[in-house]
Amino acid sequence: VRRVRTHHLAEMKQRGERITMLTSYDMYTAEVFDEAGIDVLLVGDSASNNVYGNETSLPVTVDELLPLTRAVARSARRAMVLGDLPFGSYQASPEQAYLTAARFMKEGGAHAVKLEGGAEMAPVVERLTRGGIPVCAHIGFTPQSEHTLGGYRVQGRGESAERVLRDAHAVQEAGAFAVVMEMVPGDVATQVSQELAIPTIGIGAGVGCDGQVLVWQDAFGLRTGRMPRFVKQYADLRGTLAGAARAYADDVRAGTFPGPEHTF
Ligand code: KIV
Ligand code: NA
Repeated sequence: VRRVRTHHLAEMKQRGERITMLTSYDMYTAEVFDEAGIDVLLVGDSASNNVYGNETSLPVTVDELLPLTRAVARSARRAMVLGDLPFGSYQASPEQAYLTAARFMKEGGAHAVKLEGGAEMAPVVERLTRGGIPVCAHIGFTPQSEHTLGGYRVQGRGESAERVLRDAHAVQEAGAFAVVMEMVPGDVATQVSQELAIPTIGIGAGVGCDGQVLVWQDAFGLRTGRMPRFVKQYADLRGTLAGAARAYADDVRAGTFPGPEHTF
């Protein structure tokens, strides 16, 4: 199998083929999603909430994400593995960003990195790209900035649509190979996707993007609680796992497992 590379994603956009992305943080999901044909596996800083038990993405560290990135990179044969730079590990300067991103490539085995920000991050995108690190930008609602953005809210409504367009063009000019757009009105996301040469990957940005990403625990029903409107649930893994755990516990308590066939 041939590895998905940045130029393949560009060609997919040109052909009108939609790009599939899911998060992955471990070996088995990486294997399964890779074998299912998912094009890009994002080792998201959403591991903060979905692996490490934090309430937001802010606390997760580079040292916590690197081992997860390495596990995914070892396990995916075809998919591009995209490492997500955590809060505080790249915003200080292009040099800080380069040193952090290089660790994701060298120690994590990532094929590219993602970082949050638009026009203000253009110098960082340019520095990484010049230094041999492909960058996927992330604009619209950027969870690492929830405290400056005033919580989880749609970005680019009304006059602020201009801001989203400006950010999109800025990261493209700086050399980004793709851009994630989160919680942006569908018409704005469609316009951005039509104007940009590089692929757009939407999450809460409608069907006009060139691809789509979801957090797998949201999409496949492992997480509980109130789900954002942009999530579609494709499985009930929490129910399946809970049923299996209860059946196991029942068997052990009843003495019906292990049986003779499980015994030496
Ligand atoms: O960390 C993450 O999972 C993400 C996606 C939601 C785009 O950044
Ligand atoms: Na993220």
